[in-house]
Amino acid sequence: MSRITIKKILNKKGKKPITCLTAYSKPITKILDKYCDIILVGDSLGMVLYGMKTTKEVKMETMILHAKFVKQHAKKSLVVFDMPYKTYKNKNEAYKNAKKIIKETKCDAIKLEGGKKLTYIIKHLTKNKIPVMGHIGLLPQSSNRYKLKGKIPSQRKQILKDAIALSQSGAFAIVIECVIESLAKIITSSIPIPTIGIGASKYCDGQILVTDDVIGLSDIKPKFVKQYSKVGKIIEKSVKKYCEDVKRRRFPTYQNVYKS
Ligand code: KIV
Repeated sequence: MSRITIKKILNKKGKKPITCLTAYSKPITKILDKYCDIILVGDSLGMVLYGMKTTKEVKMETMILHAKFVKQHAKKSLVVFDMPYKTYKNKNEAYKNAKKIIKETKCDAIKLEGGKKLTYIIKHLTKNKIPVMGHIGLLPQSSNRYKLKGKIPSQRKQILKDAIALSQSGAFAIVIECVIESLAKIITSSIPIPTIGIGASKYCDGQILVTDDVIGLSDIKPKFVKQYSKVGKIIEKSVKKYCEDVKRRRFPTYQNVYKS
């Protein structure tokens, strides 16, 4: 099984769709690793796993702990670490934190949220051999989670400018979140690096979703999510049956007991 490299991701642009999902734990990573090009240790972990109100509450140490084990169990996929809120306020801080993240987790790249304003930081990181994935459109670290972007012309212009600036500053791919289809199409054809859409249409070079949304383990279901299974319901059924068995003394049985 050969590892997915950044070069391979770049080579897929315009040829083969890039598959990405989020993971925060070993069991999910082991499944995703069989199928995904990119695994993102997203700061969505704060809301999805810990029930935080926004991703702004997520601490770097929490992300590092999860990412370390995701990376350890991802034998093939490229693993990207989502830098938490306020950990890349300027180029020196971004570099110091990114260096620590890569050293401690061994992740292959980091992701930053923001447009043109981040270009000097991205240039600094990539010059220092830290691969960067950008994130434009809806930015959960600074705005409302599901507000569609690109409806007004000035916003469309700005987001396109952001995409071009990020690609010119050395990012190897850009996540585009929650934007109108026509804008995603224009961005994808305007930049030489892959676009990874989340609520940004089929015109992106790849797609990403939060795994818990895909498998039906989260409470939310925005329009752009396709739910492929209802894992939450399966877990509930199992827990209910187990508790009934314990209460009625149907568990454990002789099969679950050590006799000697
Ligand atoms: O934090 C996250 O999971 C993300 C993806 C949804 C793109 O940023």
